[in-house]
Amino acid sequence: MQIAMINDRIMGIEKVGPEYLDRGTFFGDGVYEVLRSYNGKIFALEEHLARLARSLAAIEITGVDIGEVRSRVLKAFEKAGITDAKIYFHITRGSGPREHLADATMKPNFFLTVTDLKENAKLKTEGVSVSTCPDIRWKRCDIKSLNLLANVLAKHDAERKGCWEAVFVDDNGLITEGSSSAFFGIVGDKVQTSPLEANILPSVTRKYVIRAAANIGLKIVEESLTPVQARTAAELFLGVTTRDIIPVVKFDGQTISTGRPGKWTRQLIEEFKKFTK
Ligand code: PDD
Repeated sequence: MQIAMINDRIMGIEKVGPEYLDRGTFFGDGVYEVLRSYNGKIFALEEHLARLARSLAAIEITGVDIGEVRSRVLKAFEKAGITDAKIYFHITRGSGPREHLADATMKPNFFLTVTDLKENAKLKTEGVSVSTCPDIRWKRCDIKSLNLLANVLAKHDAERKGCWEAVFVDDNGLITEGSSSAFFGIVGDKVQTSPLEANILPSVTRKYVIRAAANIGLKIVEESLTPVQARTAAELFLGVTTRDIIPVVKFDGQTISTGRPGKWTRQLIEEFKKFTK
């Protein structure tokens, strides 16, 4: 008899629902997006959909209609009626027996949630601490895939060190990005951040930070920082959809400048707000 066991419940294998046989669970074989709304308006929907299409193509999940995904996101957002919402969704290759080789006829699965995005004003007014950890992730971090084990472990490591975010440092001693955020430094009159290569996610927030930086007269340098450069930078900050810009005031225990969010970072936060209106 072929059986399955779900927690302590035993059943014939044929009784197992497709949600348990999802390749996302077995292999992390899927991609995802996280969007947010500001005051009832979804931010940067088209950029997120474009990145989704790119991620799907990169892992060869075919047959997903991006127009249909857009409609589902809009429908769910409207139904939820949450003005400041976090919208999460993922698409996996589909469900089936656990074989590495996927059945080519398999249909992708879609899962989405719309939840309250609770603002935490202190993050912006006080800033956060970050700690570094080795970037042990795979070589295609530009794909927004469901394989986030290294990111989760990094976040736990940061939490143990009393930090809000972990910042990955690669084998060459360069900062790539945060465990769930893009990383930026202000050096002189420049914003410095890692170039868009296969080792980081093309962050949507990063794109708007660069736009905001240009608007307030900062130059942009797309060059990875080293931890030494980060420690001595005038200002540091993180960029992520759910929080836009978060000042960093401590880096591996080292206080950055005065230990308060810097003037450029505060200006960037204000400038960023204009995009979200
Ligand atoms: N994470 N880098 C990584 C590794 C990320 O996971 C994220 C976002 C970012 C920032 O990307 P964006 O600006 O497009 O949100 C950078 C999402 C929010 C998450 O996994 O929850």
